[in-house]
Amino acid sequence: MKRFGVSMESELLSKLDNLMEEKGYANRSEILRDLVREKLTEKEWKSGKSETIGTLTLVYDHHHHLQEKLTDLQHDYHKNILSTTHIHMDEHNCLEILILKGKGKTIQQIANKLIATKGVKIGKLSAASTGKNI
Ligand code: NI
Repeated sequence: MKRFGVSMESELLSKLDNLMEEKGYANRSEILRDLVREKLTEKEWKSGKSETIGTLTLVYDHHHHLQEKLTDLQHDYHKNILSTTHIHMDEHNCLEILILKGKGKTIQQIANKLIATKGVKIGKLSAASTGKNI
C-alpha cells in the first residue's frame, strides 16, 4: 500500500463523504479504491480488447415461443455464455440470469439482441470484471 495526499474542493469532498456514508464505506481510502476500480472496469468494457465478465437479467412471459427464440439466440453464442439460471416466477413470467464472458463489445451485442427480442419485459446487463486487471 502507498499513501498519497489528495487536494479537493471542500464541496466535492463533502459530496464524497456523503456518498461514503450512504454506501456504508468505512473510510475515504476504501471508497476511492472502489471508484478507481469502477473506472478501470468501464475502460475495460469500452476498449473492446480485454476479456470481461457480466451478468444479464431477463424477465419475460414464456408464451408465444419466446423462450424458444431466446434459447436459439443463446446457442448461437454458447462460447460466451457460461451459465444460465431460469426461474418460473408464476404461470406466465420467467426470470433468467446469464453469466457472460468475452470482449466487452461482444457481451454488449449479445445482451442487446436478447433484450431487444419482442416480449422481453426487463433486460439489464451488469458489467463486472474478471478481476485480473483491477
Ligand atoms: Ni419459466
